[in-house]
Amino acid sequence: MSVDDWWQRGVVYQIYPRSFADSNGDGVGDLAGIIEHLDHLETLGVDAIWLSPIYPSPMKDFGYDVSDYTGVHPLFGSLEDFDQLVAAAHARKLKVILDFVPNHTSDQHPWFRESRDPAAGGGPPNNWLSCFGGSGWQLDAQTGQYYYHAFLPEQPDLNWRNPEVVEAMLGVLRFWLDRGVDGFRVDVLWHLVKDEDFRDNPSNPAWRPGMDPYQALVPVQTTDRPEVQDIVARLRRLLDEYDERVLIGEIYLPVERLVKYYGVNLRGAQLPFNFQLVHAPWNAPQIARLIEEYEPSVAAKEWPNWVLGNHDQHRIASRVGAAQARVAAMLLLTLRGTPTLYYGDEIGMRDVDIPPGRVQDPVERNVPGLGLGRDPERTPMQWNAEAHAGFSTHEPWLPVAPDYREVNVAVQRDAAKSMLRLYVELIALRRGEAALEVGRFELMKTGDDVLAYVRRGRREESEFLIALNLGTEPRTLALAGGGTVALSTHLDRWLEPLAGEVRLRADEGVIVRLAARA
Ligand code: NOJ
Repeated sequence: MSVDDWWQRGVVYQIYPRSFADSNGDGVGDLAGIIEHLDHLETLGVDAIWLSPIYPSPMKDFGYDVSDYTGVHPLFGSLEDFDQLVAAAHARKLKVILDFVPNHTSDQHPWFRESRDPAAGGGPPNNWLSCFGGSGWQLDAQTGQYYYHAFLPEQPDLNWRNPEVVEAMLGVLRFWLDRGVDGFRVDVLWHLVKDEDFRDNPSNPAWRPGMDPYQALVPVQTTDRPEVQDIVARLRRLLDEYDERVLIGEIYLPVERLVKYYGVNLRGAQLPFNFQLVHAPWNAPQIARLIEEYEPSVAAKEWPNWVLGNHDQHRIASRVGAAQARVAAMLLLTLRGTPTLYYGDEIGMRDVDIPPGRVQDPVERNVPGLGLGRDPERTPMQWNAEAHAGFSTHEPWLPVAPDYREVNVAVQRDAAKSMLRLYVELIALRRGEAALEVGRFELMKTGDDVLAYVRRGRREESEFLIALNLGTEPRTLALAGGGTVALSTHLDRWLEPLAGEVRLRADEGVIVRLAARA
């Protein structure tokens, strides 16, 4: 593996297609809308877009219930539109990554519909739960049999122990790879294989009423089974028949189990998503601790990655506040490893309160009131101050944020100190500097509130100190030698010379270009 692979140097940007841009005025985003806004992504400077599912689907889980793996839902457009998107993206040197949903189909997929032979009855085979509330077993009236669904009853799980399933799904990947797709983000990769003997999951002693009901059991029989590694390796072998394709795994596991998904001898996923920043308490010691745990767990030739948010998690600006969201952006784009941005985070979009009558997410409907619903982070992209934030000419499928007249791309494009300018500067600085893109990483010892680390290139490139104040009081960090400010989250202090110390204002992060040692 060379350090020059695009998915190592590059920045990935997640698009939730329903909410990015609606070109035909039906209130739901589409592929043509994405094509119309590629300029924004080019200006931002990202290298790849990952699209959440665009396939035909009854939309019970908004596309994660796929009824045809090799088509495009008419809401989003057509296969021709998709080909146009790939061509337009590639013309701008943007890679295109698709979401691949191999754990389950929709109950409207022909594979499920055709699989239902009548059989003898009986109770549910065991205690397995659904991540989306209630039992994971559904009695199918037509067959008298139960089937397992890790998510909605309308999302029956596939049986990856069946070689025909494996072959069919590899065929799906080939279909898209042959159309020029640059990789896949694989949905719930760690769920694909379940216990062959259908043993019960043990109960979780840490679970208390009021917590997510799925967590009442420890899912040892339904997730992260050893056999899944063969499947990951099989998917990777297929991608390696093509040039420069990437396999990204959605995996929520503790670090020591997560890193197994790199595979033996790097034959697994290039990027098993690292979601630690999504769940981290936002303070310097805790984040330092999780970096110290993750960094050495990633073996020499494996490549790290970092994520701040996605379509299943509350937005970073809501989790840590607007000021710290800027510090978080600097953290994401200067840690060692591939960063993935979530659409709208580049303008500081926040979670939106969804009135009861407008709830769309089945999780909120099934498990209400626990804050598990995902609509708040899926609201329409805020493009400008016009009606519906320039997302659509029609009332969108989810409400637009009330502050969209102030928080939008058009306003921030022209504002010298906006969040969007910060993202543009961060990505631009990173792109030109090998130390930031692929350099080594060294965490520094600091006092309260400050997280600091050095990035060093392998050769004679510049070295950088990144100092982040996660607190609301000014802090000072000692600096051996001197340097100049390459970037502050406040977008001032340009080229300010530093000697002996780095002063940080409240909620400020800086990237310091260190003076070359004599
Ligand atoms: C993970 C996806 O990110 C989420 O949105 C979806 O609901 C589940 N997998 C089921 O596919």
